[in-house]
Amino acid sequence: MTDMRVALVSGANRGIGLEISRQLARLGQMVALGARDTAKGEKAADELRTEGLEVPVIALDVADPASCAKAVSDVAAMFGRLDVLVNNAGVFLDTTETGQQRALSVSPNTVEQTFRINTLGPLCLIQAAVPLMKQQGYGRIVNVSSGMGQLSEMGGGHAGYRLSKSALNALTRVMAAELASQPIKVNAMCPGWVRTSMGGPGANRSVEQGAETAVWLATLEEDGPSGGFFRDMKPIAW
Ligand SMILES: NC(=O)c1ccc[n+]([C@@H]2O[C@H](COP(=O)([O-])OP(=O)(O)OC[C@H]3O[C@@H](n4cnc5c(N)ncnc54)[C@H](OP(=O)(O)O)[C@@H]3O)[C@@H](O)[C@H]2O)c1
Repeated sequence: MTDMRVALVSGANRGIGLEISRQLARLGQMVALGARDTAKGEKAADELRTEGLEVPVIALDVADPASCAKAVSDVAAMFGRLDVLVNNAGVFLDTTETGQQRALSVSPNTVEQTFRINTLGPLCLIQAAVPLMKQQGYGRIVNVSSGMGQLSEMGGGHAGYRLSKSALNALTRVMAAELASQPIKVNAMCPGWVRTSMGGPGANRSVEQGAETAVWLATLEEDGPSGGFFRDMKPIAW
């Protein structure tokens, strides 16, 4: 086994996750492209292969704790290590079909489903990844969060998404505290408003811009931060 860093990116078949995978692979990391639909994952991997980037596809449905554990053990079986975990997969289920999905009216099912993917998926993946990271004495965990989860700027509407991302931010702090004595860094970031299926065509950022801070956090040097929340590589308020 070489010293090549091995990364697992969830929700990597499109959008920001695909771009994070591309940028990490360009930096020389072995990137396992996590996708809940492996056919879609293979299509994305083919796109990267045409650019000379070889990426294996790993089946990963973050809503399923067993799938999270299996994805990490699949990566470990393939490469004997896991250095970087990017919790990128996410959903925004507070659609406009019933208005803004205010907290006053949102269905608990919508909130629960959102939490399974946006919050519990990252929890399960971190739980599976940390023992490997401890073993090898290195780990970088990046939680792709959102400004919509910032308590300091919290507003109404999109209740499921906001709650799930605030909880993801809390998870970032809790994990960073529990891992403070370890060479494992845990950070959250906001990509800004990005032109993807989730962000829509009117968003003001490209996927390249959206991926930049996650890639920076995934490749932090030893003296880099842990337990922080960042946008454009600068700390932002929780
Ligand atoms: N775009 C923005 O403006 C923006 C702003 C702030 C934060 N973010 C965050 O950035 C991250 C990426 O968003 P994006 O804009 O790239 O969204 P996107 O284009 O909608 O992509 C979402 C990705 O998550 C995957 N996913 C959804 N549910 C999953 C599950 N249960 N298991 C595994 N993968 C699952 C999707 O897979 P399928 O193709 O199978 O559905 C897709 O690959 C999200 O966490 C989002 O909250 C985005």
